[in-house]
Amino acid sequence: MKPIERLLLENKAWAQEHLAQDPHFFEKLARERRCDFFWIGCSDSRVHADEITNTEPGRIFVHRNIANMVINDDMTLLSALEYAVDHLLVGHIIVCGHYGCGGINAAMRKAKPDQLMLNKWLKHIKDVYRLHRHALEMISPYAERENRLVELNVIEQVHNLAQTSTVQKAWATRQGPELHGWVYGLGNGIIREIIQLDAGTPLDPIYEYDLTSLT
Ligand code: CO
Repeated sequence: MKPIERLLLENKAWAQEHLAQDPHFFEKLARERRCDFFWIGCSDSRVHADEITNTEPGRIFVHRNIANMVINDDMTLLSALEYAVDHLLVGHIIVCGHYGCGGINAAMRKAKPDQLMLNKWLKHIKDVYRLHRHALEMISPYAERENRLVELNVIEQVHNLAQTSTVQKAWATRQGPELHGWVYGLGNGIIREIIQLDAGTPLDPIYEYDLTSLT
């Protein structure tokens, strides 16, 4: 059997297992969605939101890209964010990075000139490096520096979220959602919280929207 055929076969087995435990499992899942979390994670195949938080399907709305980035002209991220905040009314947004992230590792090295699209993406991580170059280059060994960039990148992405009009409007009108920056350890399976920003956390004024008409 080809590996791709195995996926479909395992899907049938998975569906049957759930039905054996609860004959109405999929009807219930299709009917109700109690989605209080929006997860922005890395595309890495080893970091699955539902699995590492032991969460049933239907609870976490997920967006993933290389190195869990929040880039302010990324339509896929921004449309998912708007849907999560304005329609699902999530109470929490989680940016979850992970140690040993290939995107972070690649961004710390010289780019290969033929990787046109990847290089554009990794440039955003290089910008985070440049912003924190002094602190990062005090850290050795190199692996520790890389781990710190994983953490600093998560912190920057949480701030990028707070700087969106979607989050600022929601903070002004419904005092939520909370923003969380987490880092997952591939080596031990444990998530560390690195940063949390609650509604109303003061932002650098240069990024503030004029929301006087909303309040
Ligand atoms: Co990664």
